[in-house]
Amino acid sequence: MSSNTKPSIGIVGGTGDLGRGLALRLAKAGHPVLIGSRKPEQAVEAADALTAELSDRGVSGHAIEGMDNTEAAKRGDIVFVTVPFAAHTPTLEVIRDVVQGKVVVDVTVPLVPPRVARVQLPPEGSAGVIAQTLLGDDVHVVSAFQNVAAAHLQADMDIPCDVLVTGNEKEARQVVVDLIASMGMRGFHAGLIHNAAAAEALTSVLININKQYKTHAGLRLTGID
Ligand SMILES: NC(=O)c1ccc[n+]([C@@H]2O[C@H](COP(=O)([O-])OP(=O)(O)OC[C@H]3O[C@@H](n4cnc5c(N)ncnc54)[C@H](OP(=O)(O)O)[C@@H]3O)[C@@H](O)[C@H]2O)c1
Repeated sequence: MSSNTKPSIGIVGGTGDLGRGLALRLAKAGHPVLIGSRKPEQAVEAADALTAELSDRGVSGHAIEGMDNTEAAKRGDIVFVTVPFAAHTPTLEVIRDVVQGKVVVDVTVPLVPPRVARVQLPPEGSAGVIAQTLLGDDVHVVSAFQNVAAAHLQADMDIPCDVLVTGNEKEARQVVVDLIASMGMRGFHAGLIHNAAAAEALTSVLININKQYKTHAGLRLTGID
């Protein structure tokens, strides 16, 4: 655990749209954020841009650094994986050794371009199951954020949507539910990692809705305060 009272967050593939959105929200919530990239200089550039963005928004005291993916995964107390599905397995293989014993948050949607508006889950069932199998039982894989638009995460606004949180261990899920609350959203325990398939499939449904209604639709659960 870092010296900061809040756990540090490594974001593997953090130079992308979703990674940047998560970085902004988590840094604003007071977590040291470590942006990872295959190219460290690209991560430093992204970290500098995010730092400037937060300063423009009047948010001070945040710490965002850029580095290569392995270093971000090694130094992060909690590690997010935010890469396209095509890069999912090779990226997990790169970080496997350094994330043993940690909570790894997998945001991956197994989209198969060009038909991203069609549900096409992998034979294993979901990206979440692939991650848990590949990283092994000592890694606490939690799947979340598949149904939150990067554009919403990046914007300086309240996010009017909920997050389904799946994973085999309740304690690890709770860590992520708490992170989601610190980012201004509601996260809900949604079962074991096998249920990640439901959130991953819903993204293609939302892509259809987004095209039809020209929006960034999200999920909202009713019946829960
Ligand atoms: N965008 C959204 O609104 C959204 C919403 C929910 C979930 N998701 C999911 O979040 C994940 C990331 O989405 P995104 O839109 O942020 O993706 P992205 O911008 O296309 O890519 C994210 C990062 O992944 C790295 N990357 C790309 N190709 C790679 C490869 N072949 N090998 C290793 N790394 C590679 C790149 O970082 P470097 O070049 O710096 O290494 C890139 O900046 C995806 O699985 C997506 O399904 C996205």
